[in-house]
Amino acid sequence: MGLQLFRFPYAALLRFFKSKSNMANDVIPSHSHPGSAGTKNNDNHRLYVGGLWEEIGNLQFSFLLSQGLCKEHVLLDIACGSLRLGVKVIPFLEPGHYLGIDKERMLIEKGISEELDESIFSEKKPILICNSDFDFNQFGVYVDMAIAQSLFTHITSPQICSCLANLRPWMKPESRFFATFFESESEVKNPSEPDDHGMFVYTRRQMEDFGTSQGFSMNYLGHWNHPRNQMMVEYRLC
Ligand SMILES: C[S@@+](CC[C@H](N)C(=O)[O-])C[C@H]1O[C@@H](n2cnc3c(N)ncnc32)[C@H](O)[C@@H]1O
Repeated sequence: MGLQLFRFPYAALLRFFKSKSNMANDVIPSHSHPGSAGTKNNDNHRLYVGGLWEEIGNLQFSFLLSQGLCKEHVLLDIACGSLRLGVKVIPFLEPGHYLGIDKERMLIEKGISEELDESIFSEKKPILICNSDFDFNQFGVYVDMAIAQSLFTHITSPQICSCLANLRPWMKPESRFFATFFESESEVKNPSEPDDHGMFVYTRRQMEDFGTSQGFSMNYLGHWNHPRNQMMVEYRLC
């Protein structure tokens, strides 16, 4: 897969996590699991990503299947959070074919320790990176499908363009990138800074322009049964 994973014993792994800031660019080693799946201390990580854990996890998984996701595909989950989609799709995909990236180390760690079954983690070797700059080069892998579920609802337009620009080199001609957004009829003034608990709203035309500016064409898919009325678009290379 072209990615060098670090080999830490578990104690060293914990020290490694503690020594890093929240925004560091790190590959989370995929061979070591704390072994506490199912023993939830609290649900803060689920609340952080908006709750509706099962519903939105199942919704994403069934959507990707309906779009032709198969086990041989490499799937990139941009803003993977605590693996709400990951827990559904990692068991389905071949080992090393799930790539997840999120800026919040705590969310990824909770996903590994409290949501993902330990045996699935060892067997399927998901590749998880903590990074806030959409640095997909760290995976070093071409993707068949990518999804950003409820990411563009929290970030600025320059960040959306940066996400698309950084993804472009890792798309194949037939790859597809699905992204959700809150749609408005006319342009609104969004917050000037990203906010995980704020709301960013874009027009269909803005979403299309973000893509065009970075070499993508956009297909508007619209409603996909999202309980909070987020719409879906699909980007492909031009
Ligand atoms: C509403 S949650 C959705 C998480 C996930 N897609 C899901 O469906 O559970 C938004 C996520 O975007 C992540 N995020 C926001 N800005 C980001 C950035 N610049 N890079 C990576 N992740 C980011 C947050 O940390 C959070 O996990």
